[in-house]
Amino acid sequence: MAGKTALVTGAARGIGLATTLKFLNEGRRVAMVDIDGEELRKVSSGLKNVLAIETDVSNPDQVDLMASEIKAEFRTLDALINNAGVADFGPIKETTFARWRRVMETNLDGPFLVSQACIPFMAQPGAAIVNIASISGLRASTLRVAYGTSKAGLVHLTQQQAVEYGEIGIRANTVSPGPVDTKLALAVHTPAIRKAYHDAIPLNRYGIEQEIANAICFLCSDEASFITGQMISVDGGFQAAGVGLPALRT
Ligand SMILES: NC(=O)c1ccc[n+]([C@@H]2O[C@H](COP(=O)([O-])OP(=O)(O)OC[C@H]3O[C@@H](n4cnc5c(N)ncnc54)[C@H](O)[C@@H]3O)[C@@H](O)[C@H]2O)c1
Repeated sequence: MAGKTALVTGAARGIGLATTLKFLNEGRRVAMVDIDGEELRKVSSGLKNVLAIETDVSNPDQVDLMASEIKAEFRTLDALINNAGVADFGPIKETTFARWRRVMETNLDGPFLVSQACIPFMAQPGAAIVNIASISGLRASTLRVAYGTSKAGLVHLTQQQAVEYGEIGIRANTVSPGPVDTKLALAVHTPAIRKAYHDAIPLNRYGIEQEIANAICFLCSDEASFITGQMISVDGGFQAAGVGLPALRT
C-alpha cells in the first residue's frame, strides 16, 4: 500500500484513530478529519505522513473545503472511511427533532456529503469506500430510534454507492462493529447494557478498536478487489446469535 492515500473521518480517537495508525503502518498517507480540532491537533502532531483537517462532516461548505485541501495535497484518494459518528440513546417520545437531526446529520448526511465531495478524485479503478455502521442498524432495539435508523440508512447508502460506482471501479462496503470500548460507547453503555452485551455476544467480550480497523483495512486492500456492496459485522458473533434464548443455553 506504499504511496497510497486514505481519508478517515472521526480520526482523532477510537476506531478512526486505530484505522489511521494501521493505514500509516501500511505506508499510506492519511487525511485525518475530525470536528474536535483540539484532540485532532494533539494526536496528529506526533504522526508523520498525515494531513489533519478540522471539519464537521455534516456541514456541506466545510466538507467542500476539506475535499479541495485533500485533492491539492494528495491528488488522488485511494480509500475513504466514513467513520465519524455520534450516539444518542433514548425512547422515541423523548427523541426531539433536534436530537434526531444531530444523529442523522453526522451519521448519514456526513457520509453522503463526504463521499460526494471525494469520489471525483478517487482512484478509478481501484479506490474503496468503507462506511462504518453498527449492529444497532441491523437489528432494532429500544432506545435507538435515531442511532439505529441512521446506521440502517448507512448500510443502504453503501449499497447505492456500490451499484452506482462499480462501473468506474470504486468499491463500497460497510463494517458494522459490535460494542467497542471507546468514548462513544462509554457515554451510552450503562453497566446493565455492558453486562447484557457480554452475555449476548458469543465471544463474551467487547471488541477492541484494532479488530475493527483490521476489517476496514482489509476491505480497502487489493485482497478485497472483488468485494463490493457487502456488509461485514465485526461483533464477536452477536448478529449470528439472533435473539438467543438464555433458557436454551447449555
Ligand atoms: N464504539 C462502539 O461500540 C461502536 C459500535 C458500533 C458502531 N460504532 C461506530 O464507529 C464509529 C466510530 O466510533 P467510536 O466508537 O470510535 O467513537 P468515538 O466517539 O471514540 O470517535 C468518534 C469520532 O468522531 C468525531 N466526530 C463526531 N461528530 C463529527 C462530525 N460531525 N464531524 C467530524 N467528526 C466528528 C468525534 O470527535 C470523535 O473523534 C461511529 O460511526 C460509531 O457509530 C461504534
